[in-house]
Amino acid sequence: MAPRPTASILIVDDDGRNLMALQALLEDMGHQLVPAASGGEALRHLLRKEFAAILLDAQMPGMDGFETARLIRQRERLRHTPIIFLTGAYEDSFSMFRGYEAGAVDYLVKPVVPEVLKSKIAVFVELYLNNTRLAGEVAERKLIEEQLRQSEENLRALATHLQSVREEERIGIAREIHDELGQALTGLKMDLTWLVNHLPAAQKPLVKKADSMFDLIDGTIRSVRRIATGLRPEVLDEGGLAAAIRWQALDFQKRTGIRCTVELPPDGLEPDQGRATAVFRIFQEVLTNVARHANATRVDIALKVDRDNLVLEVQDNGKGIVEHLARNSKSLGLLGMRERALLFKGRVEIAGNSGKGTHVKVLIPVSR
Ligand SMILES: Nc1ncnc2c1ncn2[C@@H]1O[C@H](COP(=O)(O)OP(=O)(O)OP(=O)(O)O)[C@@H](O)[C@H]1O
Ligand SMILES: [Mg+2]
Repeated sequence: MAPRPTASILIVDDDGRNLMALQALLEDMGHQLVPAASGGEALRHLLRKEFAAILLDAQMPGMDGFETARLIRQRERLRHTPIIFLTGAYEDSFSMFRGYEAGAVDYLVKPVVPEVLKSKIAVFVELYLNNTRLAGEVAERKLIEEQLRQSEENLRALATHLQSVREEERIGIAREIHDELGQALTGLKMDLTWLVNHLPAAQKPLVKKADSMFDLIDGTIRSVRRIATGLRPEVLDEGGLAAAIRWQALDFQKRTGIRCTVELPPDGLEPDQGRATAVFRIFQEVLTNVARHANATRVDIALKVDRDNLVLEVQDNGKGIVEHLARNSKSLGLLGMRERALLFKGRVEIAGNSGKGTHVKVLIPVSR
């Protein structure tokens, strides 16, 4: 069994016999008893050590109990340490009043009744131990909260890092595919043209073969462009966010047959590359969701700057996202959108209207 927790009790009395008597009386409670023969000595103990309760003689030469209590109460740390005043029977209720005024929480008349004193001490010790335990728990909880917050911060920083590494990689691969393969294919096409020009006109099957090679090369050039653009559309880096949104909407309309309207800010706004990428990737996810889930025939897209926010709004006329999914979807698409916005202290608001469609609003703060 764990040892019973104990506490310290300070006993202050100028009369050595009283001190001994009180110590003898409380000894069997198992707490640490610290005697002090004056108010000054009591204060010195209090500065060094924590006490569950203070037994304080009211009448002492020099600094009396009331003065000692006042000085104790002036210290922030000791403001709530219980003080039990001990006073002679001859003293009147006026001194009792003075005791309470000075910060006493209880009052006992000498000679004290042992059982009364013991039960009072027991209550205060119990209170003290409970408080200590609670304070420990609060401190532990605070520590855990801090650790959680820290780890969330680290995870978010890692996510930011991974996102940007991934985006950088995409840019690099897209460029390489586009430049290297694109140039090689163009070179191939030129060589083939030269070859065809040098073929004897009579060699019909060879000319036919060369024609199909031209088709193959053109198809491959288109594929290379499509793959590179899929990785990272050039327009995002060269034309900026607004141009990329328009391009993506047109491409979406072409692929799905869902009609898109696009409203862009009149004076080309240019967020930094990080924000532009975030908004663009969120937009792509929103469109993918429209194609996959909405059953819509029309999408209205607006990009604008509202006060200090970059705002993208996308309204479809489909079946409308179910409310609990909009609010608290655990699936990765919406979660990823929210996280991307959060990286820039932004947010994503999603609202569904059954049978009427889904509205997605992305807000990203920009400093202008
Ligand atoms: N425009 C929309 N209209 C109707 N429902 C939608 C729309 N967008 C999302 N939803 C609903 O919200 C759910 C969550 O979307 P989310 O993008 O997070 O996941 P997902 O598209 O199912 O999968 P993924 O993780 O591959 O994106 C979808 O499964 C769908 O039911
Ligand atoms: Mg999705």
